[in-house]
Amino acid sequence: MTGNHEGEGAAGGRYAGPRAHDPVEEHDPHHDPSYVTRTKFLTGVAVATGGVMTAAILVPVIGFAVADAVADERWDWVDIGPMSQFPIGETSSIAVSAQDPPADRRAFIRREVNSLLAMWNRCTHLGCPVTTAGAGFACPCHGGAYDPVGRVTAGPPARPLDRFDWKIIRPDGTEVASRTGGGLGRVRDVDRLLIGKAYSLDDDLAIYALKGPGEPVTGVLSNLYPF
Ligand code: FES
Repeated sequence: MTGNHEGEGAAGGRYAGPRAHDPVEEHDPHHDPSYVTRTKFLTGVAVATGGVMTAAILVPVIGFAVADAVADERWDWVDIGPMSQFPIGETSSIAVSAQDPPADRRAFIRREVNSLLAMWNRCTHLGCPVTTAGAGFACPCHGGAYDPVGRVTAGPPARPLDRFDWKIIRPDGTEVASRTGGGLGRVRDVDRLLIGKAYSLDDDLAIYALKGPGEPVTGVLSNLYPF
């Protein structure tokens, strides 16, 4: 009987039924462009996480820098008194209160026959208040010292003392002299001295936009400070 069964298969032609070893065409998901492997998934997570962390670090930094840059700081002119308070040949120290920017600061007014300097008492190292010391100025914090016109003579300050713009007006408001306009020979005791916007200087006393304490105005390091 068994022989007949085998014989039927042979006699009926080629067997076309399922075979145990028939190759099954499997679908390879790797060929599907939309298929996400575990490696791809983890790479994506890592990139996204890195992006978020980078943004978390950079956004506040950039925001801080840009905010400082675009902040249009206003320096109002502040009347600091009649010229009789600033004798020729002397350096006077005077407190200055201002609303914008809100500040209580001190200015050193150094007056000569044909020149006048208005120096800020903020140490250019880390901002401590400097005081007069002999003909110059000294900082109590880290030994910074400046000569009579504010150039650094000792210690860590990166640049000379910052200065204020100034102008002198008659009691009626007419301008008599200014930092850029001269005219000191015509000044009278009743005329009034006003100081305005602060600015910074390099070692040669060339003028630059105001920098913060510790910021150099020239050299490679100055590029690290955007404003
Ligand atoms: S803050 Fe003036 S020397 Fe450091």
